[in-house]
Amino acid sequence: MHKIFEGHVAIITGAGQGIGFEIARQLCLKGATVILNDSDVALADKAAATISASGGLCVAMPGDASNVGFIKTMVGFAVNTFGSITMAVANAGLSLYGNFFEYPEEDFDKVMKLNLGGSFYLAQAVANQMIKQKSGGSIVFVSSVVGHQALKDLAAYAITKAGLEMLAKNLVVELSPHNISVNAVAPGATLTERTLTFDDYVNAWSAITPMGRPANVDDIANAVLFFLSPASRHITGQSLVIDGGWTSISPAPPNK
Ligand SMILES: NC(=O)c1ccc[n+]([C@@H]2O[C@H](COP(=O)([O-])OP(=O)(O)OC[C@H]3O[C@@H](n4cnc5c(N)ncnc54)[C@H](O)[C@@H]3O)[C@@H](O)[C@H]2O)c1
Repeated sequence: MHKIFEGHVAIITGAGQGIGFEIARQLCLKGATVILNDSDVALADKAAATISASGGLCVAMPGDASNVGFIKTMVGFAVNTFGSITMAVANAGLSLYGNFFEYPEEDFDKVMKLNLGGSFYLAQAVANQMIKQKSGGSIVFVSSVVGHQALKDLAAYAITKAGLEMLAKNLVVELSPHNISVNAVAPGATLTERTLTFDDYVNAWSAITPMGRPANVDDIANAVLFFLSPASRHITGQSLVIDGGWTSISPAPPNK
């Protein structure tokens, strides 16, 4: 396999399972050194060991990706241990479904703190380091189709994901002069350990997705790796929807 990420050091948050794990796995296979974060210590350790066993260098960094102090520690660890940081994927995100009319402040705060705050401060910490290194770099936010289209009981989550896409666009101003790209991917329904526990998930999403199935984690990881790779070196401030066509259609009138 061509090791196009050789010499790069990446941080991926919330990567103990699901989309983040697949991003970490693919990056390692292609030569990057990966710092794999998850708030679940056992899961982070197991995921990093599994990835390292298949040939890459993946180090677990368990901790809360919404905690700014921890984010700074994680970036410091990357630099002290591996000499630099050149890529970051703010993947950790909480959805916390709930009825808008009764949505608890506690859930609202948690969703904002991780999805928006965690991504914002990860970008800040890695960008400051990339500028110090004069290395350039790439940052990817993991958004969602729910940042584009309404879904019931997901209002709090939806505004964080829409906000992340504006964050990618806004940071173009600050980061482009330093050769740092910042983009977002917006997955649609994706099969992960978590979503597979939802009732009838595969059939329900297959029925309403133009391409006939929900995404697999590699459908999303492929797009993230594109944004991290030299192939996208002139692309910044963009969001790429990966949803098998779901956001392209609207309900049709009954006679169409
Ligand atoms: N799966 C989907 O269908 C889907 C669709 C659209 C967007 N997304 C987004 O993709 C990203 C990954 O989703 P997923 O479904 O693969 O992951 P997930 O919900 O299964 O979570 C992945 C990991 O994040 C960890 N995590 C939770 N809180 C954390 C924190 N505070 N700090 C560090 N780690 C934490 C969990 O322990 C878990 O192992 C999220 O941002 C999510 O919003 C997912």
